Amino acid sequence: MKMKLLLILLTFLVSGFISSGSDTTLSFSENDVVLQPHMVDLTLIQGADSKGAVCLDGTLPGYHLDRGFESGANSWLIHLEGGGWCDTVRNCVYRKKTHRGSSKYMENQIPFTGILSNKPEENPDFFNWNRVKLRYCDGASFAGDSENEAAGLQFRGQKIWLAAIEELLSQGMQNAEQALLSGCSAGGLASIIHCDEFQSLLPKSSKVKCFSDAGFFLDAIDISGGRTLRNMFGGVVQLQEVQKNLPKSCLNKMDPTSCFFPQNVVEHVETPLFLLNAAYDVWQIRASLAPSTADPLGSWNDCKSNNANCNSSQIQLLQDFRNQMLDDVKDFSRSSQTGLFINSCFAHCQSERQETWFADDSPLIDDKPIAVAVGDWYFDREVVKAIDCPYPCDNSCHNLVFRRV
Ligand SMILES: *[C@@H]1O[C@H](CO)[C@@H](O)[C@H](O)[C@H]1NC(C)=O
Repeated sequence: MKMKLLLILLTFLVSGFISSGSDTTLSFSENDVVLQPHMVDLTLIQGADSKGAVCLDGTLPGYHLDRGFESGANSWLIHLEGGGWCDTVRNCVYRKKTHRGSSKYMENQIPFTGILSNKPEENPDFFNWNRVKLRYCDGASFAGDSENEAAGLQFRGQKIWLAAIEELLSQGMQNAEQALLSGCSAGGLASIIHCDEFQSLLPKSSKVKCFSDAGFFLDAIDISGGRTLRNMFGGVVQLQEVQKNLPKSCLNKMDPTSCFFPQNVVEHVETPLFLLNAAYDVWQIRASLAPSTADPLGSWNDCKSNNANCNSSQIQLLQDFRNQMLDDVKDFSRSSQTGLFINSCFAHCQSERQETWFADDSPLIDDKPIAVAVGDWYFDREVVKAIDCPYPCDNSCHNLVFRRV
């Protein structure tokens, strides 16, 4: 009975999906079915402000660090938090009054689950590493560098990223033997953008790799023929002057907005990189493929809230979306050092949630859960290029279902 109540409560939390214009973000309970999740304290980066590394509202940035132990004491996992972007002064002014724009509103403690868990039965390969969640409070995937004084906005993602790495190096990461930069959603995009820089900031002798979860945002055409996500990314890049921090190798060939799309960046990343993404990424379906601005009559609302409600023509568009994703990772996948896990699920951020990262019934491709796939790739135990068969063949998915809006 207690369990049932808990499940109902969790279903309710998972359905707490907020979609508001271009500042679309996902929010759901991160503790999942872990009854007593391991809670980790927030640390503000003292002195970051003297380096100009501040959140949108000028407050100090922060992170949660859980120390490694035993054989993991000199290994470091840096996980970049996600949470959409802000692409206009108005959106950013709104954001600075939330935990995504100010440490004043950040939780003092957060649960460490999935890839951040400290238990071997929940996180077989990284549980005893030093595990860090870097909070996201700049609105441009840790990559902007500008300000808008009139609106009282600081766009200092790049400086926050550098100040955090500097602080963690001084906290012991300068002795790292192994390191993994990870991140989910906007943080997953950041882990791609900052991958080579991360490698360059760590000791030459350390084994460094990067892992992007739900960060492979396609430059897609929406259902009305527009480019909703490209328009938003264009706004973010311009407002926050992100071009300063995008890979020059991409900027030599393309415009800055294109270089904020991972499909144009991954070929330039030299450090080993793993891409985990649901082929039917629910954030992308809701905010990029079929956003309400492209669907004024709401004909996609049923399908967007539950994949079981999609009709055959909608499924066809979703298959086209998946094919585009597979096309965009084709060259990337050829390199022997890259890893891939593209499952045919309706999900977003599968590494942070225990039930999708590693559990008895977590998602599989070829009988391998995500945590094992990422571990096999990181430790060079096996080549991992896992691409699922198309929907609806995979019955191991934990598809997200949302409240209709
Ligand atoms: C599927 O739904 C959309 C939106 O309501 C509609 O335009 C389309 O005709 C439907 N297709 C089929 C095959 O029913």
